[in-house]
Amino acid sequence: MAGHGAPIPMTGKSSGPLSGTAHIPGDKSVSHRSLILGALAVGETKITGLLEGQDVLDTGKAMASFGATVTRHGEGAWSVHGVGVGGFAEPEDVIDCGNAGTGVRLIMGAMSTCPITATFTGDASLRSRPMGRITDPLLKFGATPHGRAKGLLPLTMVGAADAMGVRYTSPHPSAQIKSAVLLAGLNARGETVLIEKEKTRDHSERMLRGFGANVETVETSAGFEITVQGQPELQAQTIAVPRDPSSAAFPVCAALIVEGSEILVPNIGLNPTRAGLFTTLVEMGADITFENEREEGGEPVADLRVKASNLVGVEVPPERAPSMIDEYPILSAVASFAKGKTIMRGVKELRVKECDRIDAMARGLEANGVTIEEGEDYLIVYGQDGEVEGGGTCATHLDHRIAMSFLCMGLATKKPVSVDDTGAIATSFPIFTPLMTGLGADIA
Ligand code: S3P
Repeated sequence: MAGHGAPIPMTGKSSGPLSGTAHIPGDKSVSHRSLILGALAVGETKITGLLEGQDVLDTGKAMASFGATVTRHGEGAWSVHGVGVGGFAEPEDVIDCGNAGTGVRLIMGAMSTCPITATFTGDASLRSRPMGRITDPLLKFGATPHGRAKGLLPLTMVGAADAMGVRYTSPHPSAQIKSAVLLAGLNARGETVLIEKEKTRDHSERMLRGFGANVETVETSAGFEITVQGQPELQAQTIAVPRDPSSAAFPVCAALIVEGSEILVPNIGLNPTRAGLFTTLVEMGADITFENEREEGGEPVADLRVKASNLVGVEVPPERAPSMIDEYPILSAVASFAKGKTIMRGVKELRVKECDRIDAMARGLEANGVTIEEGEDYLIVYGQDGEVEGGGTCATHLDHRIAMSFLCMGLATKKPVSVDDTGAIATSFPIFTPLMTGLGADIA
């Protein structure tokens, strides 16, 4: 889905207490990986709870272009008949990953050690995001990327014919880099080792093990060393996708700032590499209880009960950033209602997300009367103890999380908060608006 339709502006307005149960869709990271690993396995992988957001649908289409049989059986129920490690066929046309950085980077990794050529593109947001961070390690496997200046999409990747495993230290805290290297390592001879200084989300490692690959993680003085043995036979799996904590963040945060709210958000994945926002919110004084804590499909899960709370500003430790990297936009919105300032450091990865999220949040908060301070790798929000003016219109830059953050903010500001375009929300949380209005939010 390169390009985009006409902008769809929307507004969040001061709302009565939010109440009820929020049923969140499947996790985006796990959904992408379910389709990709299913395509690399032998046999039929059955998936329930797949997120049917545009990002994931684009990955499904891409897997079909590489030769897998991808079938929808009903809401969230999909199957993938895989072609086996190294079995990718050459796509007949350009692979369009739409808005999805995860989709394009993981798929590029997976095909880069197959003797085929594929050309990738995406929407205006994805075409502006750095791909050098992926092509650098893939070059070491013998793959050859031909991209635009600075390695931007569209990019053609000529896969390596007989790749050897590599040892690579990731220069950024990025699960996408880690996953691209591990997936490339699957069809390389010998072992591939990826070293990351900070632990990023570990869904690829967990799921690769689940599919039968030999993956080991060892903590060393350099960080975390993850080793995958090349050329395994992956076995098809049955996967129940946990519900997305990054999507749950929006109704949870909205309930915290709208006076009198109480909501239940069941079945949320709380993998420690994803749950940093909830730790931070509790430190801010949020009334969140984690009920029925349990394990589902190898991931910790709980039901969250959330009540409106008087929040205080905190300093978020930089080492927590990878476990809540997608949640800084909504945290910044919520922090404007807290008493005192919230300091977020070590967040320069936010500059290369679907848009420059530090800049987008800073400009949007200022437009709504909130004082901020920003630097290359930090954002400080001066909380206004519940009294936030609002009244601004925010530019979303094709970024779903910027759009949802400002719409949630508008539910508790004095004047409504508008966003210029909500089209991108469909990439990750297609039912955001009906779900929020169902809880009592005034979003239209
Ligand atoms: C993701 C990793 C993160 C995150 C993205 C999903 C993944 O990106 O921001 O939304 O599924 O691997 P980086 O790995 O680039 O930090």
